[in-house]
Amino acid sequence: MKQGDKPVHGMWTSRWAFILAATGSAVGLGNIWKFPYFAGEYGGGAFVLVYLLCIALVGVPIMVAEVMLGRKGGMSPVHTMKKLAAESKVSRRWAGIGYLGALAGFLILSFYSVIAGWTLYYIWDMAQGGFQGISAAGSLAHFEGMQANAWLMLGCHTAFMILTMWVVARGVSRGLEKAVQVLMPLLFVLLIGLVVYASTTPGFAQGVNFMFHFDFSKLSGKAVMAALGQAFFTLSLGMGAIMVYGAYMPREVKDRRSGKTRRVSIVSTVGIIALLDTLVALGAGLVIFPVVFSNGLEPSQGPGLLFVTLPLAFGQMPAGVIVGTVFFVLVMCSALSSSISLGEPMVAWLVERGLGRPLAALAVGLTAWVIGIGTVLSFNYWKDVTFLVGTFFQNIDFLASSLMLPLGGLLIAIFAGWVMKETQARKELAMKSFGLYMIWRAVVRLVAPLAVAAVFLNALIGALG
Ligand code: PHE
Ligand code: NA
Repeated sequence: MKQGDKPVHGMWTSRWAFILAATGSAVGLGNIWKFPYFAGEYGGGAFVLVYLLCIALVGVPIMVAEVMLGRKGGMSPVHTMKKLAAESKVSRRWAGIGYLGALAGFLILSFYSVIAGWTLYYIWDMAQGGFQGISAAGSLAHFEGMQANAWLMLGCHTAFMILTMWVVARGVSRGLEKAVQVLMPLLFVLLIGLVVYASTTPGFAQGVNFMFHFDFSKLSGKAVMAALGQAFFTLSLGMGAIMVYGAYMPREVKDRRSGKTRRVSIVSTVGIIALLDTLVALGAGLVIFPVVFSNGLEPSQGPGLLFVTLPLAFGQMPAGVIVGTVFFVLVMCSALSSSISLGEPMVAWLVERGLGRPLAALAVGLTAWVIGIGTVLSFNYWKDVTFLVGTFFQNIDFLASSLMLPLGGLLIAIFAGWVMKETQARKELAMKSFGLYMIWRAVVRLVAPLAVAAVFLNALIGALG
């Protein structure tokens, strides 16, 4: 790899480092906590199908575009977009993609840290054997007890935010690369083991049926919008996280064995990341829903789904204390590798403007922490204070995930497909297959923007009618 190319932030040391970091960003609470809870809330199969379609038709092509823009620009999303806009001789307002993304990142980070804080509490609780032989009602009461305790939640939120900013402050390859390398494979192995366990429970068939039986009568405009937003959320798209990670991606690497330089393919890299992310989400569903049906629980119980169901399973299985503790440690770590990428676009921008990395991390973390207090309160004191789409937390999530991310993605697709010079995009992508490139181009120019616009319009009509 070429050294000294991007002196401000540093670069990934290999293609694998990028895959690991981007997978670390993608795989997180979105897969293990949010996907099952959304699937449960929006009726199962039909939601899952729309979600998978959104990943394949909209998410993957936009992810390719986002990595491509990032690698071409080589800076934070704001400066990358400024640079690329200047190169394409269009308005510098395209940097708005960067600002919009940084704002979305703040909002998501604010509630992400609160939910990740729950995992901290559950690690502690699980390790003490608090869930051994627990009943469904007991597990629910346990979760509700934690929710009701605003100070406890605030403490956990604070701890997690400090952890996040500590890693961000250490910088790209030192801080981010190391942890993911060990934890991701471990998470996969444990998840596979849990799916095997779930397949022995009486509710397995019902759980599988719930996830894969496509009953379209249950599909509302709101559900489709949630599925699209979830596709962006889960792949970390539309807010610059993948763009800024792409900026740290080398164009070519030296092959260890032959010593020859090789181009790093964006498309196959993105394919791997999207596949891993999807597998983790489906795996989490295949563990959680069987437990739901085996214990007579409701799939539509909302944000508590993961935290109520899995402790039940751990309480029933042999060595559940150890398995459960390890599981929540891994969930926490995968949340950490995502949350650091939520702050990175903003931190990178501040660093480029001359702020030291630790200070930039502190500023971003503190702001997101303050907004996060609203989410903490949404589960207790402000539980019944609802407006627009629900509680404070639900509004922040809807605004950031369902509106800002798809909007950011739409603009990224338009820039990559219509604004940027075709030859430049093609050169940066350097796809081997021309046919594949043409498909990508058609999707980024037409399919993805139209899909996002259609979902927005549909939701708008639904809201008015
Ligand atoms: N993709 C992460 C998850 O699924 C969340 C995330 C969203 C991270 C946007 C970065 C940017 O948990
Ligand atoms: Na994800």
